Amino acid sequence: MASDVREHVVAFIESHRKIVEVDALELILADRQPLILCQAVLNRVGPDSPFVTREMVLEVVAQRTSNRPPLARPPSPPTAEETSATPVPEAEPFRLVVSGFSAPTTHQNPLEAYGHLFADRHLRLSRILRGRRGLANLQPIESARAGSPPMAVIGMVREVRTTARQHHTVLVVEDESGAASVLIPQDSPLARGPYLPDEVLGLSLEFSKDPKQLPRVVGLERPDVPPGRPAGHADRPTRAMFLSDLHIGSKSFLSDAWGQLLDFAHGRAGHEEEVRGIDFVVIAGDLVDGIGIYPRQERDLAIPDIIEQYAELGRRLRELPSRMTIVVIPGNHDAVTPAEPQPALTPALAASLPSNVRSLANPSTFSLYGALVEAYHGRSFDDLIPALPGATYARPTEVMKRMLAMRHLAPIYGGRTPLAPLIRDGLVIDPAPDILVTGHAHTFGVDRYRDVLLLNVSTWQGETEYQRMRNITAVPARAAVVDLTRPSRPDAVMTVDASGPKMVIHGGAP
Ligand SMILES: [Fe+2]
Repeated sequence: MASDVREHVVAFIESHRKIVEVDALELILADRQPLILCQAVLNRVGPDSPFVTREMVLEVVAQRTSNRPPLARPPSPPTAEETSATPVPEAEPFRLVVSGFSAPTTHQNPLEAYGHLFADRHLRLSRILRGRRGLANLQPIESARAGSPPMAVIGMVREVRTTARQHHTVLVVEDESGAASVLIPQDSPLARGPYLPDEVLGLSLEFSKDPKQLPRVVGLERPDVPPGRPAGHADRPTRAMFLSDLHIGSKSFLSDAWGQLLDFAHGRAGHEEEVRGIDFVVIAGDLVDGIGIYPRQERDLAIPDIIEQYAELGRRLRELPSRMTIVVIPGNHDAVTPAEPQPALTPALAASLPSNVRSLANPSTFSLYGALVEAYHGRSFDDLIPALPGATYARPTEVMKRMLAMRHLAPIYGGRTPLAPLIRDGLVIDPAPDILVTGHAHTFGVDRYRDVLLLNVSTWQGETEYQRMRNITAVPARAAVVDLTRPSRPDAVMTVDASGPKMVIHGGAP
């Protein structure tokens, strides 16, 4: 596989009559999306140099401008999988509402494929933004010209920069009609940002008659969750227990803590009434530790065989009460393609799991007796935390608030979260859930945003040397049990903390 990519990249560069230096090639191959990076480098090199050097690649990697391909025109039509408008029927225990994973695009050229993906993102988020009072006179971006009357546009951010002298913010935004630079004066409250590459914004603009003056942003709308939206909930008494990042197969799997969790789940640790009400367990990815996920991982593995890791996962899940429906999604450690959205586990791997398991894609939105849950592993924290000032792995729910404001789980293209060029952008958050659950950060957080319950639900792996090296402080062995009849209420969440010698159970966030 790796040598295939190498051959493709070399052939691609040679087809442009250029020679790639070895160091430059290694840098390109180390990127998550080597062909896209390669195209960006070739665009920058132009016809003058016969070589592609390491410096040229570094220059492209370092630029803040998104190197995503432009939006395709026309945007891809809505597909049959579009189920977001489907009303959730009542009284059904489990129902998949939207699977994030859809068919791969049929476009062979990767630039075209991504162009269609981003056009689909723009289309979906435009539907959410259209009709807002703050976006009067909505027009395509190509009509944003000097001397125009006030208008609004919906654009995907291509570039964010600050002017050298006045420190105004300039955004380059794009839709399928074209791109435009717009200015946010440094004394505007909107100048605080931060704006992220590839997020979709609704902008209200005013124009000067002077063609040298950029259109001025006077209003901003993110797709966001509508304030005052009626909070959804289950239509019968029921609870769900939320877990993440089991990392089965790791030497650091916390089997004693897991044993305490089983005592709780079987009602052997008190709270029998609440435990009886638990009908669902949701696990937000990194079900197993995987193989070859990071350098020298084999030293950290108790089970060095991927099939055996899933067999052990099956054994562990059988330890939970069989009346509970267990919903699982993969994470970046699982044995599915790492590009997001990720498909569900293959039937061969899922065959190791008990019959009460529902194996879904990452991300997926599903209804539990009418309460709408979106589960996403959280790989995009690796891109969003460095991009958002003040964001940390210790408080992932702050980042989740921004995901909801953008109505997108992983907007940034070309970072550490590889994006799959599928027909539909399954990382758009639509519909807005009642509960958004993530893992990946290996910490624990409970918060709320506009009546959406936010959960980041810990890990069952102790700290590995690799995590210590990356300065990640784990908060392991916690589970959140949520009363689904009132998930937006502050007292709806019970925390099960099995990290110490004696389990601690308490209501609300710790
Ligand atoms: Fe993990």
